[in-house]
Amino acid sequence: MKVFTGEDTTLIVEGPAEVKIVDGFFSIFGLDASPGFECKVNAFKAAPFYTVEGGSLVVSGGKVSCINGNSIPKSWVDALNKIKEKSGSVIVLGEVDTGKSGFITFLANSLLKGGKRVALIDADTGQSDIGPPTTIGLGLMSKPVVMLSEVPLYDAVFIGLTSPSGLLHRSVAATSFLCRKAKNELNADYVLINTTGWVGDPGGRDLKLSKILAVSPEYIVSIGNLEHITRFVERIYRVIKVDPAHALRPRSREERRSIRTNQYARYFQGAEVETIQVEKIGVAYSFLWTGKRLQSAEIERLCKEIGLEILWAEEALDALILVVNTPLSPKVKESIEESYAKTVKIITPEELKNVLVAFGGSGKMFLGLGIILDFDPSTGELKVYTNVKAEDVEFMQVGYIKINPETFEEQGWIERWSL
Ligand SMILES: Nc1ncnc2c1ncn2[C@@H]1O[C@H](COP(=O)(O)OP(=O)(O)OP(=O)(O)O)[C@@H](O)[C@H]1O
Ligand SMILES: [Mg+2]
Repeated sequence: MKVFTGEDTTLIVEGPAEVKIVDGFFSIFGLDASPGFECKVNAFKAAPFYTVEGGSLVVSGGKVSCINGNSIPKSWVDALNKIKEKSGSVIVLGEVDTGKSGFITFLANSLLKGGKRVALIDADTGQSDIGPPTTIGLGLMSKPVVMLSEVPLYDAVFIGLTSPSGLLHRSVAATSFLCRKAKNELNADYVLINTTGWVGDPGGRDLKLSKILAVSPEYIVSIGNLEHITRFVERIYRVIKVDPAHALRPRSREERRSIRTNQYARYFQGAEVETIQVEKIGVAYSFLWTGKRLQSAEIERLCKEIGLEILWAEEALDALILVVNTPLSPKVKESIEESYAKTVKIITPEELKNVLVAFGGSGKMFLGLGIILDFDPSTGELKVYTNVKAEDVEFMQVGYIKINPETFEEQGWIERWSL
């Protein structure tokens, strides 16, 4: 479809679409595009093509609408000008669907145009643009982009869930860890930090305040009115208030879930079944695989005591971990807990199926995600569907969500620390 536009207008292209500029000059989130420029707009996302003098585009797929003037609010340009005065980190806060990703795209493209090294941290684990869902990603801008997902991933930290709820400390630690990486390893002039839209409730407030303190940003950008947070932090940091992007179509819960399914599917493209020896790697966020294997004599004694076959047994400082085919009765469990004076974790191999994990090694916190297919207690081998080569894996973090390895749909959360 060829679309013509007059002076001082914005064409809003909703994805999934491919766009080619035929005639005229356009600005897309601060990216300057001339005739011949081509780009993609992802599904459930939109991109504004603003032109001063008019022009034409060819759009394949998606939907196009037109608005008068520039959809980038003047307050965004004013914020950019302030931020240009001092390099450092910038945290962007806003409710869901207020234009956080759009603002960051605009800011990143504009700073890059000014010759700055711009790193991005995407701490929005549910609707992440950089890195797959369940992670906080770090990327370095190498060229201006229309979609933040074009920014290559440099490293990431796995949080284990798509929501930081109950894992606030991990999100805060990950953000400050990646912020240091951006400055030390990438020598970034600017580190732009996107956040979740969770800004209310004790959890959302705590998360935002802790992140701010952990990063000590040069600037905090508040999209819309977040006085319940900014009235406090503006006494300590520079806060810039900007307007939400107007006329945004909110994304439903279902759409957000479907965005994530697409992201997992894209992320697992080319994945294969790899075999990991669990005893050769470091493991975090589970009890399982973090202890010392019990001697066979002790396992035999325990088998007799509980009257069940034990497939795998290990002991850690704070837990005895048993892999069995059928769960123990609470009474039997209690009696072993008493004799070992520690928690007993009972896990069936079935429970491990389709659990999402993340691998790291070679100086990277994040080499990629994996989906557990099978654990063989007789060999200690874990079969995982992943893009990461088994020989590169130095450590693994266990997640709290299950993903179907065929459809990449989320199959629900598992209780934290249940494994
Ligand atoms: N200034 C703008 N003009 C036109 N479209 C915009 C603008 N800013 C953002 N958009 C588009 O509006 C939609 C919602 O904005 P965006 O994704 O930036 O919001 P968000 O606050 O990051 O949402 P989420 O909470 O889901 O992460 C996106 O498709 C985005 O591309
Ligand atoms: Mg966003």
